[in-house]
Amino acid sequence: MVQPSKWDAGLYDEKHSFVYKMAEGLLDLLAAQPGERILDIGCGTGHLTAKIAATGAKIAGIDRSPEMIRQAREAYPQIRFEVADATNIGLQESFDAVFSNATLHWIREPERVISEVARLLKPGGRFVAEFGGHGNIAKLVAAAERAWLELKLPQPMPDPWYYPSLPEYAGLLEKQGLVVTYAILFDRPTPLEEGVSGLRNWLSMFGGAIFESLSEYERNRFIEETVQEAIPELFHDGQWVIDYRRLRVVAKKD
Ligand code: BEZ
Repeated sequence: MVQPSKWDAGLYDEKHSFVYKMAEGLLDLLAAQPGERILDIGCGTGHLTAKIAATGAKIAGIDRSPEMIRQAREAYPQIRFEVADATNIGLQESFDAVFSNATLHWIREPERVISEVARLLKPGGRFVAEFGGHGNIAKLVAAAERAWLELKLPQPMPDPWYYPSLPEYAGLLEKQGLVVTYAILFDRPTPLEEGVSGLRNWLSMFGGAIFESLSEYERNRFIEETVQEAIPELFHDGQWVIDYRRLRVVAKKD
């Protein structure tokens, strides 16, 4: 699994708040009810978890990053947050719903996550998730690959992400006894904060899994070169807009 366990939780909250602000529709799909027991996988700094808690649901948030969990606990001391890996969650209780936003594309062992989801759901319970789907940030990755080649870095460029097609992911869910009741793959162009610095910030926050083997000098050159390569397609009128494509699914445990 390549999901970074060390995140800069401050940078995440300060400059990448779109990660949780753009998930409002997903909360509508979850439709949490008062008293329901819900698990949030990959809760980050806990802002969406807190929105779900505000419905009266009894929610617990898990994240692999101790730094994210520390910040979530500090911001929302009344909510239960635990450090846990989505492929081996370790909880022995059951939930009415399992929720996840912008996390599952970091985990290249989807079967292990789905097995945990199926184990933790009560019969009749639902899994509601959104993450990067097939073709997510394809233009940005192509720009990064051109930069990697240009700088003659060791081939191939690491690919840390899992972006399944809709039928592929629906098949994995059904294989483990979850019935897919809703699934959609859609483009969600995402404006970055901080104008011209937006992509540099994004790469510093999320690109570590690509360039962690590089020296600091190579890393900085890679970021600058990727920014230059990406300008024609992703930077317009002083604003970076990244080519996110989301896979959104709801599946039920029979
Ligand atoms: C995403 O939300 O699609 C994403 C975030 C960070 C890195 C790659 C993809």
